Amino acid sequence: MAREVLVLDKINAGYGEFHVLFDVNLKVHEGEIVALVGPNGAGKTTTLRTIMGMTTLYSGKVLLNGKDVTKIPTHKRIELGITMVPEGRRIFKTLTVYENLLAGALTKKARQRFQENLELVFNFFPKLKERRNQIAGTLSGGEAQMLAIARALMADPDILLLDEPSLGLAPKIVIQVFDIVKKLREEADKTILLVEQHVKHSLEVADRAYVLEQGKIVLEGEAKQLLTDERLRKAYLIL
Ligand SMILES: Nc1ncnc2c1ncn2[C@@H]1O[C@H](COP(=O)(O)OP(=O)(O)O)[C@@H](O)[C@H]1O
Ligand SMILES: [Mg+2]
Repeated sequence: MAREVLVLDKINAGYGEFHVLFDVNLKVHEGEIVALVGPNGAGKTTTLRTIMGMTTLYSGKVLLNGKDVTKIPTHKRIELGITMVPEGRRIFKTLTVYENLLAGALTKKARQRFQENLELVFNFFPKLKERRNQIAGTLSGGEAQMLAIARALMADPDILLLDEPSLGLAPKIVIQVFDIVKKLREEADKTILLVEQHVKHSLEVADRAYVLEQGKIVLEGEAKQLLTDERLRKAYLIL
């Protein structure tokens, strides 16, 4: 089994006194695509935010590349190789595409590898290369999501956390987003934790998956097996 890049060990977390996550255990190995699925309000975003150190942690540990980062602030975690693409593709709308990419390369390592990463990103998203001087607020929804992912890649992460990257996109673009997730692993050696509402699509691209309900992991396993799991099929109407 490959190295554990990310480990959540019995996480209890929330916002102030509002307890959202209960004893959450989750692992992502190097090179894996792991899906985290579950209904609205289950705590998926909170899980990602907890990994980044942006919630109130009551107990449990977050390990990154074997290192306990539980008490380490967000920017230091980014330096250690983890980046999140937040829900709702929050790009800088008044800046150009290129300026958005520049803004993603904040760490020392990212600045050193800026040209290489820019090449990788433009290779992945030729549209963004064409539009490098365009104001980001004028991009289509799909292009804006590509830019949000591209900006995260500029931080040079080993592991990417993607929060509902396909949300609100047209079906054709949704397919493209899932293709990109696969390509990120295959061609850019990224390890990925993917939060998605499109349960069937995400189980098809993922190696393993976790199902979160009301802040608890209720099901986990090989993605292919979960695709045929009766409970999951019923709950999420996978056909
Ligand atoms: N910033 C916040 N402050 C307080 N409660 C929040 C905040 N963000 C989310 N919540 C609450 O935490 C719970 C889990 O939300 P979230 O993690 O966003 O779920 P999901 O991403 O699975 O839809 C919900 O009850 C939500 O209302
Ligand atoms: Mg969410």
